[in-house]
Amino acid sequence: MNNFTFYSPTYFVFGKDQENHAGQYVKRFGGSRALIHYGGGSVVRSGLLARVKASLEKEGISYVELGGAKPNPRSGLVYEGIALCRKENVDFVLAVGGGSAIDSAKAIAAGAVYDGDFWDFYCGKPVEKALPVGTVLTISAAGSEGSPDSVITKEEGMFKRGASGEALRPVFSILNPALTQTLPAYQTACGVTDIMAHLFERYFTNTKDVEVTDRVIEGLLMTMIHEAPKVIKNPDDYQARANIMWAGMLAHNNCCGVGRDQDWASHCIEHELSALYDCAHGAGLAVVFPAWMQYNMNHDVMRFAQLASRVWGCPMDFQHPEITAQQGINALRQFLRSIGMPLTLKEVGGKEEDIPYLAHTAAFGNGNGGTLGGFVVLKEDDIANIYRLAL
Ligand code: NZQ
Ligand code: ZN
Repeated sequence: MNNFTFYSPTYFVFGKDQENHAGQYVKRFGGSRALIHYGGGSVVRSGLLARVKASLEKEGISYVELGGAKPNPRSGLVYEGIALCRKENVDFVLAVGGGSAIDSAKAIAAGAVYDGDFWDFYCGKPVEKALPVGTVLTISAAGSEGSPDSVITKEEGMFKRGASGEALRPVFSILNPALTQTLPAYQTACGVTDIMAHLFERYFTNTKDVEVTDRVIEGLLMTMIHEAPKVIKNPDDYQARANIMWAGMLAHNNCCGVGRDQDWASHCIEHELSALYDCAHGAGLAVVFPAWMQYNMNHDVMRFAQLASRVWGCPMDFQHPEITAQQGINALRQFLRSIGMPLTLKEVGGKEEDIPYLAHTAAFGNGNGGTLGGFVVLKEDDIANIYRLAL
């Protein structure tokens, strides 16, 4: 196991009706004038926004509002949010929604206290200072409620890039699983896929003797495989929603990624898809991850076979571990299909002629310098081959 530090100071408030206490938490974490930031309107239609506003009013916290964060959130709204925060002397940013609203809120929070262009943070500059961010989460997926990351798409060129920094980690996050019951099955499945992808990115490592994090990841993956079909069948299954919601947080606040090298090539390969075709991040991952696994299986066939055996219950063939490994990849494909996910590039709008562009921007964008991946180092040609495998 590698040396590591782990500090994850988000205050989590989990359970039914907890959004009604949002005002108390904004106050506890120093807010007196908030920007409430949300997405395309699901929180208006569900009545959640009204409940959150009432809770702020009860605590005497004034606020301004900015809705409109799109899935794959855009830079234009971030600039608008930054200007609004400055004009209105906002001292706290409260995101109400999914990963997109939260990431957009984080970008606004960082940009509001920075003299330069907030996009600098999405070109490699670490975020050291930001207004405090709180969240009321409405979809289990991105893990942004506990992560120090934010992903934004710049409209000029449609570049989708990430920023990171401890200042972006939410000071509190309210997780009420009941709020996710209004999600359409497709969005639920996209979220499940993203959570599983965050676990795979950490599972595929060259670091030896990481049994504790291996086992935590395997347990979370098994939870997802067990619980996801329940919520696809019955969206009102609160207990299954609750298990998925907490798994989503644990999958991405890095508690199961410590002490080990991680991969993250599939996320970069996917981000080019959601940037160019505006597909859901989870749907893009369902296309990319099985292809990435197929392409890299022989790098460490025993690791793939271990996953297949421990998580998917495939019988371990010690003479031919590649058979077990392959069965695991097949099981993942079947599972993703069973929850309604796409498996091919074409299903998310991809075209063969775009592959050279996609591979080039994946390899060289985001300051990547031509290669991706900590488990297997991929060059532009390899990335193109993975897109082709997914066609
Ligand atoms: O915008 P509204 O109207 O709220 O609708 C949203 C949106 O259309 C809808 N939705 C959310 N909660 C709902 C609901 N509809 C009904 N009932 C509810 N309770 O679902 C759609 C998707 O929402 P979005 O916020 O885009 O989903 P998600 O949480 O998957 O976020 C995706 C973004 O997060 C980024 C992705 O790249 C993508 O841009 N990621 C962020 C990460 C991070 N910050 O740590 C890590 C991830 O790997 C990921 O890259
Ligand atoms: Zn993700």
